[in-house]
Amino acid sequence: MTALVSAPCTTLAGEAAIPGDKSISHRALMIGALAVGETRITGLLEGDDVLRTAAALRLMGVVAERVGGAEWRVRGVGVGGLSEPDDVLDLGNSGTGARLLMGLVATHPFTAHFTGDASLRRRPMARIAEPVERMGATVIAREGGRMPLAVIGAGSPMPIEYALPVPSAQVKSAVIMAGLNAPGITRVIETQPSRDHTELMLRHFGATLTVEDRKDGTRVISLVGQPELTARGVAVPADPSSAAFPGVAALITEGSAVTTRGVGLNPLRAGLYETLREMGADIAYGNAREEAGEKVADLTFRASRLRAVDVPAERAPSMIDEYPILAVAAAFAHGTTRMRGLAELRVKESDRLGTVVAGLEACGVRVSEDGDDLMIEGAGGPPAGGARIGARSDHRIAMSFLVLGAGARAAVTIDDDSHIATSFPGFTGLMNRLGARIAPADG
Ligand code: S3P
Repeated sequence: MTALVSAPCTTLAGEAAIPGDKSISHRALMIGALAVGETRITGLLEGDDVLRTAAALRLMGVVAERVGGAEWRVRGVGVGGLSEPDDVLDLGNSGTGARLLMGLVATHPFTAHFTGDASLRRRPMARIAEPVERMGATVIAREGGRMPLAVIGAGSPMPIEYALPVPSAQVKSAVIMAGLNAPGITRVIETQPSRDHTELMLRHFGATLTVEDRKDGTRVISLVGQPELTARGVAVPADPSSAAFPGVAALITEGSAVTTRGVGLNPLRAGLYETLREMGADIAYGNAREEAGEKVADLTFRASRLRAVDVPAERAPSMIDEYPILAVAAAFAHGTTRMRGLAELRVKESDRLGTVVAGLEACGVRVSEDGDDLMIEGAGGPPAGGARIGARSDHRIAMSFLVLGAGARAAVTIDDDSHIATSFPGFTGLMNRLGARIAPADG
């Protein structure tokens, strides 16, 4: 655990090699684990969260190993072929790993125990327990449905039709993962479409999965259970959630221009970029293409004069992880930005509404809350900065405030850098190569 200080810098310039997408990396390992044959994954995110998923799969009989820089091979066991782990599955900081794997094991006839770090053990898991229990599994958890918990998998799994009570790709994906080893059709109904990486990847591996957009605005995903999945190559795009950090840093520091290549631009993930463009951000898209069913492009971010916007609640699922860094951009913009419908931020790696409000106030930014909405009064230029921020086991809080420090009038310190590597190994070095001034605070 190291405290880091980010001092104001002049200009950021160059190319930033962004690590692989976290959501897609988890899914590539898990779906590869259920396919017949050897799946090759390039560009896998080798951050702690994803490595935990790989380790959990190995405990259940899957061969998942690194063959070179960010290149992995997974020898799948076939749908329904996982074996009982002889140890606790420890998913560290990873909500995605924990929740998708809970779904996956729920329709295997064995018991798996799950735990994680202090942050993950505080997060709600009843949202997974509820649907998988309907499919025949039993979940024995701590008070509030929290970890450590045990999933006793169903001996005779049943497919379900499940209307999501929260707009969550993790819950949707857990039900789909469970549905893979249930006979018949598992259906998930979304009122607000969330990231569809699970759906796209399952199709890429040969599953029969249909998506229907109904007239009433709901989306229905139907999966035919017990498919034979065939091993495939997967090229993981650069993570748009990670690209946002150097991207916004370039937008808020004068004279900057930063390029990130091969960034995933799945429309259900790209809400931040849409919002930044509405704020007047100069973001150029080049070389648009598709990889393993996912849209990708090269992005160049140039320093821009940003103005406040009103971000509608309907956009939240497509930028759910990006509110901390959007809040930083808003602190530099002209006018008051309103972000609506942020209830889900309270149950992320930290209570992100609370941590963003406290951090921005400490940096001299005027902030207010109104129910689930957040209002940020932009300075129309660099805010004061000059604060020490508690990262609270949250990688995105840590990186967001380091970015704020790069553009602020005085340096910003975060108390603990240890979680940055869950999603963005090498973040500090990459930022400094672009021109940032991030260094250990107490050294
Ligand atoms: C994720 C879904 C989101 C997001 C998380 C990754 C995924 O969580 O916050 O970082 O990979 O499915 P929710 O589904 O809980 O909104």
